[in-house]
Amino acid sequence: MTRTMIVAGNWKMNLSRAEAVALAEGVAEIKTTDAVEVAVFPTFPWLVPVEDALDEGSVVLGAQDCYVETAGAFTGEVSPAALAELCGAVLAGHSERRHVLGETNELVGAKVRAILDAGMTAYLCVGETLDEREQGRAKSIVEEQLEHGLAAVGTTELAQIVVAYEPVWAIGTGVAASADDAQSMCAFVRGWLGARHGDAGTAVRVLYGGSVSPANVDEIFACEDVDGGLIGGASLDAESFGALVAAAGRIAAV
Ligand code: PGA
Repeated sequence: MTRTMIVAGNWKMNLSRAEAVALAEGVAEIKTTDAVEVAVFPTFPWLVPVEDALDEGSVVLGAQDCYVETAGAFTGEVSPAALAELCGAVLAGHSERRHVLGETNELVGAKVRAILDAGMTAYLCVGETLDEREQGRAKSIVEEQLEHGLAAVGTTELAQIVVAYEPVWAIGTGVAASADDAQSMCAFVRGWLGARHGDAGTAVRVLYGGSVSPANVDEIFACEDVDGGLIGGASLDAESFGALVAAAGRIAAV
C-alpha cells in the first residue's frame, strides 16, 4: 500500500513576522506532487500572516500545540476550536513540550483527542532520551507514549493521525539517528499500530524527526517505514526545506 509522504517544518519559537512571511512565500513556491504533502508549523502569532502568505496553495498550515478544552477560563492557552479555523494539523507531545514544559503522556493523549474533536490532524510525537536508549528502553518508552497518546483514538479515526518518531538526542543536535535506527524504530511504531488496528494502523504515516538535513535525507527517507520527516532547523530556510521536499518526491516516485 502506498502512503503519501509528508515533509513538515516545525519552525518552533523562531523567526520574526517578516521572516516567517518570507519563508512561507518560499515554501509556497516549492514544487511538489500529489505524492508528497508539505506542512509548516509556525509560532502562534504568525499563523494568520503565514496563512495569507501560503495563498490557498496545497501547503498544510499547522500549530505547534494546543489546550485540551475548547473554551473557558484558561488564560494563556489556545483552543483547538480556534486553531481549526486556520489550521489543518497540530503537533501533540513534541519532545520540547514533554521535556522542557513537563507535559505528561496523559496530557498528550488528551491533546490528541481534542485535536481530532476539532477536526484537525494530530501529529503525535514520540521518542526516547539518550539515557533511555542506552538503558535499552527505547522501544518500551515509545510504546508507552503510543499507548497513552492514542488511548482515546479509534481505528476509524486513524486517517487523522500522523506519528513522528523523534529521538530526543537527535533533535537540534546535528546528530541524526542512523538510517537503520530510524527504520527500526519507525517499523516498531508501525507494528504497534498494526497489531492494534490492522490495516488502518499500518496505513498511518510514520515520520522520522531529528537533525534531518539535505546531507542525510536520502538515506533516511529511503527507509521502508519512514514516510517523511518532521524537520526543525532545516525547515527555517526555503532552499534546504525545498531540498528535503525534492528528496521525498524522488523516493515517492520509485
Ligand atoms: P531538528 O528538529 O530537525 O532541528 O532536529 C526536529 C524537531 O524538533 O521536530
